[in-house]
Amino acid sequence: MRREIIINADACKRCGRCARVCPSAVYTQEKGEVPVVRKARNCIQCGHCVDVCEASAIRHSDFPAEHIHRIKKESIPSPESLMELMKSRRSNRTITPAPIPIESLSDIIEAAYTAPTAENSRKVVVTVLLGEDIQAVEDTTMKFFLRLAGILMSPVLRPLTKLFLRDLYNEAAELYRFERKWREGKRPCTCNGTALLAFCAPKGYDFGWQDCNLAYQNASLMAEAHGVSQIYMGLVQMAFKNMGRKKTERLLHLPKNHKLYALMALGMPAFYYPNYSDKPKNPYQHEFFQTSPDSSDQ
Ligand SMILES: Cc1cc2nc3c(=O)[nH]c(=O)nc-3n(C[C@H](O)[C@H](O)[C@H](O)COP(=O)(O)O)c2cc1C
Repeated sequence: MRREIIINADACKRCGRCARVCPSAVYTQEKGEVPVVRKARNCIQCGHCVDVCEASAIRHSDFPAEHIHRIKKESIPSPESLMELMKSRRSNRTITPAPIPIESLSDIIEAAYTAPTAENSRKVVVTVLLGEDIQAVEDTTMKFFLRLAGILMSPVLRPLTKLFLRDLYNEAAELYRFERKWREGKRPCTCNGTALLAFCAPKGYDFGWQDCNLAYQNASLMAEAHGVSQIYMGLVQMAFKNMGRKKTERLLHLPKNHKLYALMALGMPAFYYPNYSDKPKNPYQHEFFQTSPDSSDQ
């Protein structure tokens, strides 16, 4: 369908905001005149022009009236409540078999798709895995790490692993602890999640990491707001990085030629935390008004 952008000259207040906010120079405006649509084909469908117009004077074929909403300012969290949400968010790993309410899951996925994407390309795809599909991801991950450990911890390579791959060597005990749980029928790699969200984007797309992890963070805050546990599945991602493309696409239900950039386990926790503690500061983290972390030394 051809894109159509029409400005209702009678309603337009000639404020020129649409022309000012458009990142793609779709509009031009002579001072005090009704803006003119010059390059509708440049439009990246960001919706800034229709959202900024107080007079609802722009009819844009990509944004029919029913897709434009007045912002309910009173519903926007205050800085304090947003900070409280971010500080109290936890990777709560006490996930139970209780099902995640469908409204919560649906909000979490919607939050992911609401995140900004580079040039508004909206290439992020979120797939949802449940039941047996999660078990397949768990088994594949566990088997991958056991195979890797079998090689690196073999009598021949063990001394070299200890010398050159110290971190991996130190992680071995944790891996065998995971293996014991896995053999008992638990799912330690996927934290017993009852849903997995895979965030992917087309292979070769330049901003896959950024877009997917912005989507992840939106979804994780929404999960917290719903009282649903979420945990970042870095370990599983490491295993899948070493898996063939076809196998990854099949197991995670990714569209063809899509690459995995983030993975989230979700589930209902056994209990909630009553406290949050301040995160330890990293040495480069400094107060806003300080010019550098070690300015006190100067
Ligand atoms: C990139 C990344 C990878 C992670 N991978 C795992 C993982 O594989 N398993 C796990 O239980 N937690 C994983 N986590 C969760 C972190 O361990 C957790 O965020 C961190 O300990 C801080 O705790 P918090 O999320 O409760 O603040 C990961 C987090 C990030 C950001």
